[in-house]
Amino acid sequence: MEIKDSVALVTGGNRGIGEAFVLAFLEAGARRVYVGARQIENAAHLVLAHPDRVVAVELDITNPDQVLKAAQTCSDVSILVNNAGLFAMQRLIGAPDLSAARAEMEVNYFGPLSMCRAFAPVLAKHKESAIANVLSAGGIVAVPGMGGYSPSKFAGRAMTTCVRAELAAQNTKVTALIVGSVDTRMASHVTGFKEPPSAIAAAGLAAIAKGSDEVDTDFMAIDVRANLARDPKALEKAMMRSLSGERVTTGRQGPSGL
Ligand SMILES: NC(=O)c1ccc[n+]([C@@H]2O[C@H](COP(=O)([O-])OP(=O)(O)OC[C@H]3O[C@@H](n4cnc5c(N)ncnc54)[C@H](OP(=O)(O)O)[C@@H]3O)[C@@H](O)[C@H]2O)c1
Repeated sequence: MEIKDSVALVTGGNRGIGEAFVLAFLEAGARRVYVGARQIENAAHLVLAHPDRVVAVELDITNPDQVLKAAQTCSDVSILVNNAGLFAMQRLIGAPDLSAARAEMEVNYFGPLSMCRAFAPVLAKHKESAIANVLSAGGIVAVPGMGGYSPSKFAGRAMTTCVRAELAAQNTKVTALIVGSVDTRMASHVTGFKEPPSAIAAAGLAAIAKGSDEVDTDFMAIDVRANLARDPKALEKAMMRSLSGERVTTGRQGPSGL
């Protein structure tokens, strides 16, 4: 679909990959970009820089009232980017309780699903529309060191496939973006090569424009998928070794991504 003159909403658009999406949409000629932010003041710099085209929206995707309100306020959205995400850095068994794993499911699965549900009728008003879900290489290979994050991104990927089927009739294309390792606050603990957020946004916009079902946005995601296809058991064992802090390398950079 055409990005030019589209109206986009990016969740967690105030920083990191989300902010890069906002800037990429502006650069590509989007008519308006809604920046979803838990604290609206965190999006003020984007509004200030582009007052005619950027609108900040208070949006915690785990808050049903805010999600519904956003769908009412942003009633002209033609492209929804479910970018907001949480990596709690807790193990599944080693964590003291289930609160981290539950929070990751809320933000990485139920939040994007509730956004898809709330915005489906908004997107249906357009001849063509799109949803892009920002997922992870940890959503195509289970990474024990990531605790509940990896399962939540697997769930997000399955949800993406199901929503794609449900929204096909209204011509809303639904894209899964499989992301490797990116230089943002979420990956501040990660050593080694990290993509700039702008590279992920560029790949994401290209995927949306093409209406792709699923795209690996960067080298690490491509590398993980290739290793999965080549020898899934060897990759599982490599991921197991990462639990003991070993830096796992399966290719040029190794799958330490989120
Ligand atoms: N960085 C990586 O290496 C990497 C790799 C693969 C996939 N990803 C995915 O890329 C996406 C963006 O991550 P990032 O790297 O840009 O991380 P980030 O810099 O930590 O940014 C996360 C964004 O999500 C927002 N957010 C968190 N919980 C939210 C909630 N309940 N409601 C609304 N917004 C919420 C944050 O808002 P606040 O500013 O209010 O905290 C922030 O804007 C995530 O889905 C992540 O899983 C990242």
